[in-house]
Order: sequence, then structure tokens, then C-alpha cells
Amino acid sequence: MDTHARMNVIPAITIDGPAGSGKSTLGERLARALGWLYFDTGVMYRALTLAAIGHAVALDDPAALERLAEALVIDVSPPQVGDGRQYTVCVDGVDVTWSLRRSDVEQQISHVAAHPGVRRVMRARQRQIGLRGHVVLVGRDIGSVVLPDAALKIYLVASIDERARRRMQERSARGQPAELAAIRADIARRDELDRHVMQPAHDAVQLSSEGRSPDELVDQVMRLFGRPTSSAVSS
Ligand code: DC
Repeated sequence: MDTHARMNVIPAITIDGPAGSGKSTLGERLARALGWLYFDTGVMYRALTLAAIGHAVALDDPAALERLAEALVIDVSPPQVGDGRQYTVCVDGVDVTWSLRRSDVEQQISHVAAHPGVRRVMRARQRQIGLRGHVVLVGRDIGSVVLPDAALKIYLVASIDERARRRMQERSARGQPAELAAIRADIARRDELDRHVMQPAHDAVQLSSEGRSPDELVDQVMRLFGRPTSSAVSS
């Protein structure tokens, strides 16, 4: 039985894959090329984790976390500040865009995102945004669970060494001290924790970002989507 065949196809692209595989760079560029919204679903789990820390909600209390998830007003909008951000995230009206990247949030997020009740609330909200169409959604379970009826589903991969090198470059570019071995160990830890939430769609197109520029990847996805860019047409 193919339930998806009976669904209406949503004009949306989903990109799932492990931390550091290049999902956000690809997602943002694709959205720009298409004139669509870019929606990084990880920010919702980050926002909930930040709020739970701020409100001293126990991270092992699923009912309390679910209540908090339901109550939080998370607003993701195009960037209003030119400080390198891809979007602005407000939680209950407060701009938390950079606080979402805090190390205590990074440390705790997997515990928060693991609760089924939390995922139920977040996935329903993400699906609502996806259903509006003209959106590129980035995450771990978007093509399989949140928006299986999206027009194109990508599963983006890269080796752990490549992902660690990229994170290192990003941090160095931001003037943050970085050590390759520590970054690699952190990505390995994230992979292990994310294993439970990572659900590639069976019908996703798997692409590797290894050794490929963001432009090359954008061109390839645009071709897959039937909207070749001018550089892809001429190449
Ligand atoms: O993509 P990211 O690094 O911002 O994701 C942060 C965390 O959120 C990561 O540990 C996995 C989790 N996440 C999830 O469980 N489901 C999603 N759709 C997106 C992110």
C-alpha cells in the first residue's frame, strides 16, 4: 500500500541529515533561489530547551516539557539584523537567535527532543508551516514523518571528518577558538544521540555534500526539482 501516492503533493522540499552535513547552507540557498521560506526545524527543539533551562523545568519531566512546548510562542522570521544570522527566532517575543547556539542548549537538547510528547507537539507545528507550501524544511525526520507529502525529499550526508572540518572553519571564521579533535568528538556524540530521532524517508534522494560546493549542490537539487538554475543549464 502506498499511502503517499494518494496524498496531495505539497510544493515543499525537505532536507534531512546528520549534524554538519550542510543542510542549513543548502536549505537557505535553495529557498533563496526559489523565493521560498527557509525553515530550520531544529530551532524549535533548541527554543524549547532554552526555555526549559530558563524556567527551570526538569529536562526529564516529559509532561512538563510537553506543556511548555504547547505554551511557547516560537516565531521564526527572515533575519532583521545583519550579524550573520540566517533567520530571527523570537520566543514569547524575545529575540533568542544566538542564545539557541549556547553550549548548555547543545548539551541538553537531545534529552528534550527525545520525548515523544514533545515531538508530537513540534511535528504538528512544523507540519502546519510545511502545508502552507513554498518552504524548504530542514531537520532529521521531516521527509519521513513531518511532511512525507513534500514534492522533493533529500537526505544529505558527509563523512564525520568532512563535517568536523566544516564546523572548524565556521567557528574560525566567527573568530571562535576551535580544536578539530574536540569538534569531531562532539559531532560523534551528537550522531549517537540523534540516532533515535533520525528517520530518513524511504523515498528520499540521498546526496553527499562531501567535497562539493554549496553551488554545485543547489544546482543538483534544482535539477532534481525540475527547475534548473542558469548555471546548471549552461554546465
Ligand atoms: O539541526 P540542529 O543541530 O539545530 O538540531 C538540534 C537538535 O534538534 C538535534 O540534536 C536534533 C534535534 N532535531 C530533531 O530531533 N528533529 C528535527 N526535525 C530537527 C532537529
